[in-house]
Amino acid sequence: MEDFSGIVNWENVFKESESFKNQKPFRFGFIREFFHREFYEKLYEGYPDLSTFQDGSDLSRSQFSKIWGGFGQHDIVENIDDPNFNEYWNKFQRYTCTKEFIENFRKFSGIPVNKRKLFHFVSYTKGGFQLPHVHNVGPSTLVMFSFFSKGWKKGDPGGTYMAKDIDESSILFEPDNLDNTMALFHDSEYSIHGVRYMTKDVERRANCITLEEYSNEKGWSGGNPKKILETRKDDLIEL
Ligand SMILES: [Fe+2]
Repeated sequence: MEDFSGIVNWENVFKESESFKNQKPFRFGFIREFFHREFYEKLYEGYPDLSTFQDGSDLSRSQFSKIWGGFGQHDIVENIDDPNFNEYWNKFQRYTCTKEFIENFRKFSGIPVNKRKLFHFVSYTKGGFQLPHVHNVGPSTLVMFSFFSKGWKKGDPGGTYMAKDIDESSILFEPDNLDNTMALFHDSEYSIHGVRYMTKDVERRANCITLEEYSNEKGWSGGNPKKILETRKDDLIEL
C-alpha cells in the first residue's frame, strides 16, 4: 500500500475534535498547521493558477472554481490522477479516498462519513464574496476548506466564516490565518457559512473536500448534486 505518512498533521486535527463536536448551533472547527509543513509547501507551490480554473478565462471575475480532473462544477469526483497537478496534489487527492483519511475524520467529527464525494478548488480575488447560505443536505456530510494564502492579515475578509443567521452581523467564527489552516463544518440545516466582501488586492486560495455517507443501496446520503439541481429546475417549471 502507498505510504501516506507525512501529509496530514493528525495530532493537530484531533486536538480540535472535542471543540468541533461541542459547537452550537452546528458543529464546526478550525485546524492550524493542518498539513505537515514540508508537504504543505509543495501543495502551495502547485496550487493551480487562476487562469486554469473553469471560469478563469474571464479574470475580471472575483470568484473562481476548479474541479479535480476537469469535471463539471457539480460532478462527483473520481479517484484518478490529474497530470496537470504536481505529484503532491495527486498524492493528497488519492489520500482523501483512503480508509485511513476518512475514518480519522469520522472519529474527529462524530459524523458517519465513509466516502469522499467532492474535491475542488475555490479562489476569490478583490471584490469576491459569498453571501451567507446553508446547504442542508442531510445529517452525514462534512465540508472541509483548507487554505493556501500566505501573509494573511488578521481581520481581513476572505476566509470562510460560520454564522448563526443569514446575516454577517451574526458571524460566529472567521479564520484569522489562511496559511496551512482548515475550516470545516457539519453540513446541517443550521450550518450557515459565507465569505465577506474582499476589499484588498489579495487571492484567497482554498481546496474544498466533501466527505459523506454512502451505501450501495441508497447512494449518497446527501444525494447527487446534479440530481438536486435537476429537481430544482423541475420545481421551477411547475411553478
Ligand atoms: Fe456553501
